[in-house]
Amino acid sequence: MSALIAILPGDGIGPEIVDEAVKVIDCLRDDFGLDAELETAPVGGAGYDAAGHPLPESTLELCRRRADAVLLGAVGGPQYDDLPRELRPERGLLGLRSALELFSNLRPAILYPQLAGASSLKPEIVSGLDIMIVRELTGGIYFGQPRGIRELENGEREGYNTLVYAEHEIERIARSAYEVAMKRGRKLCSVDKANVLEVSELWREVMIRVGRDYPEVELSHMYVDNASMQLVKWPKQFDVIVTKNMFGDILSDTAAMLTGSIGMLPSASLDRNGKGMYEPIHGSAPDIAGNNRANPLATILSVAMMLRYSLGQPALAERIEQAVSRVLDQGLRTDDIADGGSGVSTREMGDAVVAALRNQEK
Ligand code: IPM
Ligand code: MG
Repeated sequence: MSALIAILPGDGIGPEIVDEAVKVIDCLRDDFGLDAELETAPVGGAGYDAAGHPLPESTLELCRRRADAVLLGAVGGPQYDDLPRELRPERGLLGLRSALELFSNLRPAILYPQLAGASSLKPEIVSGLDIMIVRELTGGIYFGQPRGIRELENGEREGYNTLVYAEHEIERIARSAYEVAMKRGRKLCSVDKANVLEVSELWREVMIRVGRDYPEVELSHMYVDNASMQLVKWPKQFDVIVTKNMFGDILSDTAAMLTGSIGMLPSASLDRNGKGMYEPIHGSAPDIAGNNRANPLATILSVAMMLRYSLGQPALAERIEQAVSRVLDQGLRTDDIADGGSGVSTREMGDAVVAALRNQEK
């Protein structure tokens, strides 16, 4: 049966980079027998412009009920900054994660050997880097209730959010992380703040308990402040990191930058059945939107993750990854990874990946 892929370009550079990823999907359909249909829908600011809401009902229906997987570009832009919070583009993204119960967010940080020079860290610290951050994505302080801004008796305002994790939420992200670790180097570092937060105390306890089902995986614990330091000091000590929503948001940006460009890194957000949403780690980059300068590789690599985790096509996933590696070998660079100079355009990069795919032996 044909798979249905929801295509959500979103805002800023989103549409440009998603166009290139769609070229890659089309190539897989034409030349490599991928059986997939695509349906495009608005989300984020584009959703607000089209339907008055960052997550229009029809987009949600497509993603939740009909699609087998979702490919998302990016959301957000300065023109939406003054909207009420519940209508901001980010709400569309958070709403999708939550409605689809995409609790497990896989964010790899891989240094391509061809890009060793693009990192701001010394080559010996980052060469060969390959870590996976498993970020809990539908709980914690980003979703906890109560939240808001209230007025105190003295007239002063107070902002408040709630950091809360139920045991089952910790348990399912723990299992997801252990499963990932089993397929990699079997080392799992759980990052928390158990010296201060009760939530982290429970988190740690559940991580240890679930670990009894995975005796082959070596579990360690690290406080988040130390983890942020260790990530830039000696990142190769890590294999898989599992952490709460907010800590994962922050640490995954750091990890991404170790590799030289956030423009290279894909991500997968999975539910308990492996249905998922795939998106680049980077944002909508409004400053370069519409200029044909953005790096489409993170989005193209997100398609590879989709083929691997949701569509059961690991061989096609590898083809994409090899094609990307090939264009890097050929010296193609977009501005973000071009050493100081100016690089190729978004479309040139996408075309080069498609050409590299076509040149592979069938
Ligand atoms: C991310 C982003 C989002 C998040 C924003 C856009 C809501 O920073 O995917 O990391 O905080 O999760
Ligand atoms: Mg983030």
